[in-house]
Amino acid sequence: MDVAALRADTPGCETVVHFNNAGSSLPPRPVIESQISWISEEARLGGYEMAERNQERIEEVYRSIARLIGAETGEVALVENATVAWWQAFHSLDLRGKTILTSEVDYGSNFVAYLQAERRTGSRVEVVPSDSSGQIAVDELERRIDGSVGLIAVTHMPTNGGLINPADEIGAVARTAGVPFLLDACQTVGQIPIDVGSLGCDFLSTTGRKYLRGPRGTGFLYVNRRRLAEPALLDSHGATVHGPDHFQVRGDARRFEMFEASYAARAALGTAVDYAMAVGLEAIGERIAGLAVTLRSRLREVGARVHDVGKRRGGIVTFTMEGMDARTVKDRLGARSINVSVVRPSSTPVDSRRRGLPEMVRASVHYYNTEQEIDLLVSSLAEDVQ
Ligand SMILES: Cc1ncc(COP(=O)(O)O)c(C=O)c1O
Repeated sequence: MDVAALRADTPGCETVVHFNNAGSSLPPRPVIESQISWISEEARLGGYEMAERNQERIEEVYRSIARLIGAETGEVALVENATVAWWQAFHSLDLRGKTILTSEVDYGSNFVAYLQAERRTGSRVEVVPSDSSGQIAVDELERRIDGSVGLIAVTHMPTNGGLINPADEIGAVARTAGVPFLLDACQTVGQIPIDVGSLGCDFLSTTGRKYLRGPRGTGFLYVNRRRLAEPALLDSHGATVHGPDHFQVRGDARRFEMFEASYAARAALGTAVDYAMAVGLEAIGERIAGLAVTLRSRLREVGARVHDVGKRRGGIVTFTMEGMDARTVKDRLGARSINVSVVRPSSTPVDSRRRGLPEMVRASVHYYNTEQEIDLLVSSLAEDVQ
């Protein structure tokens, strides 16, 4: 990987040391240009006219995403973010009286939906415990499968640490049991190779702005063709109204979309996907994991307590410093133009409670980060905690 060239192609690398890639990463130049040029043309031509003339460009976005994750074009819906994607999948399922099996590291918003489902539909959420390495205990998941299970919904990589859950093993359990499997891949798409067929997931939700380096306000949902159900939120883009008493839902995954969207952002998302594939997901995954290993060990050298768990780990690194709260660490680093974020316990509520996690500093690496930037982060920390 030509890191120097990739950094030269990333204007943000000139102004900040960016370790907030799990929040929103720095977009490369072609992504920025794609979005800006769409907006400029839109202003000249008219929004609908621009979209009409560039229909093929938008179709290409679906094809690019399908290639990225090994799906069919008709199995992809473009939405505003990972939450909408996940939510559209979740609420399309009839979970009345059913059990939902999830992981300890599931995202806070997912738990909101589980608890709402319990209240509204009488479904029951069961959190499958983690094993001693920190990943979901797959044998325990398997043991809990019975006729009442209506969904397995698991977060691939949590927002609060480096763990990557064994999605393929979970998928194998789901397939054998014939239970739908919803994978929250918000932090892994763009970070590691993803193939929905080999993972065995029926639904996959993700966002554009994190590891894919796309624009904010973008995301997508993959739905296996066999699992296409009626969306809870459906407009006349997702369905055709044939008179006052009848409507027909679209045949493909675009039933989960709304009519109105930012086409400029969608076009730029396509550019980001193509960019990631050109760099190569295998290489991206290896570089990110390697940088994160370095960062964890360097952090320990300056007395940080690193909280990441899991057999397999990616680019998210969370830590705390003795005697300094996470917000102060973030602010002090921010004053040096080093971007990190703070993860709150509520973002991963079950895991945080089980492990007694406080607010933590999150430094999430991407392939364009460098060892020199890690040096700078660590030496700044060492100075700031004096
Ligand atoms: C694991 C996980 N799932 C879901 C989300 C929500 O993504 P979005 O903000 O794009 O809706 C996040 C965001 O941080 C996340 O880390």
